[in-house]
Amino acid sequence: MTTVTEALQRRISIRAFLPDPLPRQAVHDVLERARWAPSGGNVQPWKVIAVAGAERDAVIALAQAAHAAGAPSEEGDDPVYPANLWEPYRSRRFKVGEDLYALLQIPRTDRPGRLRQFARNYQFFGAPVALFLVIDRRMGRGQWAHLGMFMQSIALAAVEAGLGTCMQEAWATLRRSLAAHFALAQDEMVYCAIALGRPDPAAAVNRLRSERVAVEDFTTFRGFT
Ligand SMILES: Cc1cc2nc3c(=O)[nH]c(=O)nc-3n(C[C@H](O)[C@H](O)[C@H](O)COP(=O)(O)O)c2cc1C
Repeated sequence: MTTVTEALQRRISIRAFLPDPLPRQAVHDVLERARWAPSGGNVQPWKVIAVAGAERDAVIALAQAAHAAGAPSEEGDDPVYPANLWEPYRSRRFKVGEDLYALLQIPRTDRPGRLRQFARNYQFFGAPVALFLVIDRRMGRGQWAHLGMFMQSIALAAVEAGLGTCMQEAWATLRRSLAAHFALAQDEMVYCAIALGRPDPAAAVNRLRSERVAVEDFTTFRGFT
């Protein structure tokens, strides 16, 4: 049995998957566990669109077509990062990117190489399944936070099932196209994708262990003896 601690420690972003298809039941099982995530007022402000096979390929083709046409980002009013990200957040973001490219031996000067690696986002890093997380635009920050709890629950349940995930807000750049593709309701938007499948154990990229700030650096303990 996987303990919570093990699942938390083993969950890392997987950026190379084996191509083996996942049965619908395996995806259902992960979502069945994750649906017990908490949300304020038990609103459960999420919808999931799970794609595999031809449906997955169609989304990849959509991204390819959009990029070939030089489509600008469609992030809209909900950008992935605030403008001019400030310290210490800016440096943390920079560091994990540099660590990733160092592991892959893609130097800063190799811009095409870095772009090629980033572009793998739009193929779900080879994952056979992708989950698109949809939220209603009328929801507030609270509900977005609750959606995040649901996403982490998906990732932990996937670990327990021997699967890997990569959350992919990269797909935010195609929000309008995805809304049209999935025929979302007027107020609905794709927040994020999650690539899901079996991690490729041979891939160096899956050995990236990103750093974390120490508990003391983000916690103020008050009133303890
Ligand atoms: C909401 C969210 C969106 C993310 N989007 C992407 C993405 O588009 N592409 C990617 O490669 N990683 C993405 N990540 C992964 C983060 O870079 C990763 O979680 C972070 O660097 C910590 O590393 P770890 O997940 O391996 O512990 C995302 C993570 C989260 C939580």
